[in-house]
Amino acid sequence: MDPRTEQRPHASCLADRAVVVTGGASGIGLAVAQFFVARAARVFVLDIQDTFVDDVEGEFLKRASLIRTDLRDPEAIKEAFRLIGENCESIKVLVNNAGISDVDLIETEPLATWRAVMDVNLTAPFLCLQAAIPLLRAALSSSVINVASIAGKRMSYNGGAAYTASKAGVLGLTRHAAFELARYGVRVNAVCPGPTLTPMILSSTSAAQREKSVDAIPLRNWITPEQIAEAVGFLADDASGMCTGISIDVDGGFLVSSGVPYDEYFKRRAQQ
Ligand SMILES: NC(=O)c1ccc[n+]([C@@H]2O[C@H](COP(=O)([O-])OP(=O)(O)OC[C@H]3O[C@@H](n4cnc5c(N)ncnc54)[C@H](O)[C@@H]3O)[C@@H](O)[C@H]2O)c1
Repeated sequence: MDPRTEQRPHASCLADRAVVVTGGASGIGLAVAQFFVARAARVFVLDIQDTFVDDVEGEFLKRASLIRTDLRDPEAIKEAFRLIGENCESIKVLVNNAGISDVDLIETEPLATWRAVMDVNLTAPFLCLQAAIPLLRAALSSSVINVASIAGKRMSYNGGAAYTASKAGVLGLTRHAAFELARYGVRVNAVCPGPTLTPMILSSTSAAQREKSVDAIPLRNWITPEQIAEAVGFLADDASGMCTGISIDVDGGFLVSSGVPYDEYFKRRAQQ
């Protein structure tokens, strides 16, 4: 039987279906986990933290389990998916979201930093995908969404070369996996967030700095984690049933602006 052509269960129905979210204890991953819990999915969060950073409600905790996993450790990843397999017959959605960043210049970056960023941002999505394939196949139609970054399509302002390279790598992994796994009815896509207001950014920047950053976003707002979750939800849904190997930029127009402060562009035009 070819899963591409046979009758499949409706992908939009997520009730009691298993969804795995890496890095779901905070920020974008937590918003993604909440998105799927709100649709009655059974959510497994793999994170190095052993508690959710926000006060999450009782209903959320009934449907979401946090499996403490250091995604730098291939054995820990295998063990996490073994545990998930004990609890469900298939995985409907895998969201590879966990990510870290470097800040060094290339000239001074320690090799250990480069490797740590690659391990979490690129090798872990590969290993999670590999470990999940039997359970993704068992769902008959399923979806993998990799949270990359617009940095993977240009460069990172705040992160270093490892961050940029890892996110470009995630986009390559997305395309290649989309091709190989299409025969199993597994779609693989990516979301590329632009500047997103996560708790980490809120605590590490001042209101004035955040206001200034908005100057370079044509749609004049920071992106919210919930807006990224909506794009992930679209890629998990039947509505995107013929999309695979693609990436959706959720960036308020940041990528097309090439960093040009928005108002300056119009001032210059007015003077010409
Ligand atoms: N916030 C932004 O502006 C932005 C922009 C573009 C892309 N992204 C991407 O979105 C994703 C989520 O970012 P965020 O802003 O929510 O960050 P965050 O720091 O709030 O969340 C990242 C999560 O990953 C987990 N994590 C980190 N290292 C881990 C490890 N070794 N093992 C398991 N879990 C680990 C953290 O504990 C955390 O819960 C990342 O891949 C990031 O690169 C974020």
